[in-house]
Amino acid sequence: MIRFIEDADERRKISRSILESLTDWFEVEESREQYIKESADQPFWASVDGDVYEGFLCLKETGRTTMELAVMGVRKECHRKGIGRRLFAAAKDYASMHGYEFIQVKTVKSGVYEDYDITNRFYLSLGFRELEVLADYWDEANPCQIYVMSLKSAINTIATRHSYRGLFSPEIVPEEDLTAIARAGIDAPSGCNKQTTDVIIVNDPVVLSKVKALLDPPVAQTAPAMIVVLTQRINAYRDRCFAVQDYSAAIENMLLAIVELGYQSCWYEGHITDEDRICDKIAAVLDVPEGYDVVCILPVGKAAEEFHAPSKKPFAQRVRFNHW
Ligand SMILES: Cc1cc2nc3c(=O)[nH]c(=O)nc-3n(C[C@H](O)[C@H](O)[C@H](O)COP(=O)(O)O)c2cc1C
Repeated sequence: MIRFIEDADERRKISRSILESLTDWFEVEESREQYIKESADQPFWASVDGDVYEGFLCLKETGRTTMELAVMGVRKECHRKGIGRRLFAAAKDYASMHGYEFIQVKTVKSGVYEDYDITNRFYLSLGFRELEVLADYWDEANPCQIYVMSLKSAINTIATRHSYRGLFSPEIVPEEDLTAIARAGIDAPSGCNKQTTDVIIVNDPVVLSKVKALLDPPVAQTAPAMIVVLTQRINAYRDRCFAVQDYSAAIENMLLAIVELGYQSCWYEGHITDEDRICDKIAAVLDVPEGYDVVCILPVGKAAEEFHAPSKKPFAQRVRFNHW
């Protein structure tokens, strides 16, 4: 199990116990002690099995947009169990959710030591890209390979999007960001290109409070803006209506744009389309014309609370190659 460790003493204890078991990588006592000391103040994750700490990872901010994978270690007997990968996934989620755009990591360049070749292969397999080699950053015998990973790739944004139902910060969402989110929505594919999805951006505090007042039980009450999604249930061809598919694609595009721009949201559809038909009341407040249905609301704002990914079924239970 991967745990975020808050306590500075526990962080020091874990990093010491693991780094002292990995002398092939952390041989020099002075730099090992430095890693242990610094780990106390850094975002810190540990992999725990019962009362055994199997590995840990710490991040360090190196710029307004960049986190560095400051140090990680997994006990040798726990290698090849996916622990490093899971530690990194938790750290990457954290960095993305806190608005960072890049993660960098430094290691000894490939081709110098066998142990570090394994490390290089591991970073490449996580998706890191070679940025630069600094020949004398450490010393001539240890050329420093800097790897970098963009957290703003589509695949990463998809992996870090989670439904957010917590409190929002009151920070205004600039109109250009709301416009970019809406554009991502209408850029989505649609059956026969019928473009059956429209959106209304709600950022006027008076209109917003009228919409929020309709949400019973209350949700998204602190959101500084909202996207209201509308559909036209027209046929794409013959009797085939793809309106649901069209607005689903548009909503997912908007959720991803929201996360990419550093905001959070949640797809509220069940809540407003149940028997009490809050959607129709929202439509009335927003002067939605005949022929268009309100199907979903997406709050938009910066998260004011920590949140976590929900658990999902294992990959292999849902994805197969070539046959069932
Ligand atoms: C069609 C649809 C309707 C949804 N309606 C609601 C809703 O009314 N209220 C809510 O809290 N979440 C709603 N959700 C969000 C899901 O609960 C959420 O996507 C799911 O639990 C998985 O979590 P994740 O989005 O963090 O991956 C809806 C999602 C979809 C796709």
